[in-house]
Amino acid sequence: MKIKCGTDIIEIERIKESIESLGDRFLREIYTEGEIQYCESKKAQKYQHYAARFAAKEAVFKAISESLPDKYALSWCDYEILNDETGKPNVKITSLDPSKIENIDLSISHCKQYATATAVAIYK
Ligand SMILES: CC(C)(COP(=O)(O)OP(=O)(O)OC[C@H]1O[C@@H](n2cnc3c(N)ncnc32)[C@H](O)[C@@H]1OP(=O)(O)O)[C@@H](O)C(=O)NCCC(=O)NCCS
Repeated sequence: MKIKCGTDIIEIERIKESIESLGDRFLREIYTEGEIQYCESKKAQKYQHYAARFAAKEAVFKAISESLPDKYALSWCDYEILNDETGKPNVKITSLDPSKIENIDLSISHCKQYATATAVAIYK
């Protein structure tokens, strides 16, 4: 069994600036409808959650990139980060080859300035 990890950290201000300057165009390029609904539900704290999902997608990419035939064929919205009923985040990836990856575990944290995420991919 092979295990690969990926991690990412991002300044929340960077994501806030992109959302404020590019608006819906940025949101729809990076986030799925479900992710947007989750982040918007956090009201004033929403930028932390948007940034966390950006970091999570980067972290997942790092963990799975060697399993992808064409690394850049997936778009941002092919990764969807949603939380289960306990609050734990999970990633769903459209068109991931299930013969290569058994499971991906994800962990997220954020504070006022930064959001960070770590992903662990278990290969078959
Ligand atoms: C859930 C908890 C760990 C979140 O920690 P926090 O310091 O408040 O916040 P962080 O910024 O570090 O983490 C927030 C992220 O935690 C993740 N999270 C929430 N609930 C989770 C759970 N049950 N399992 C795993 N991850 C969880 C989410 O991804 C969330 O970010 P998101 O809403 O953008 O997806 C915390 O609220 C908690 O319940 N702590 C109790 C810990 C405890 O009992 N300790 C004593 C014994 S060890």
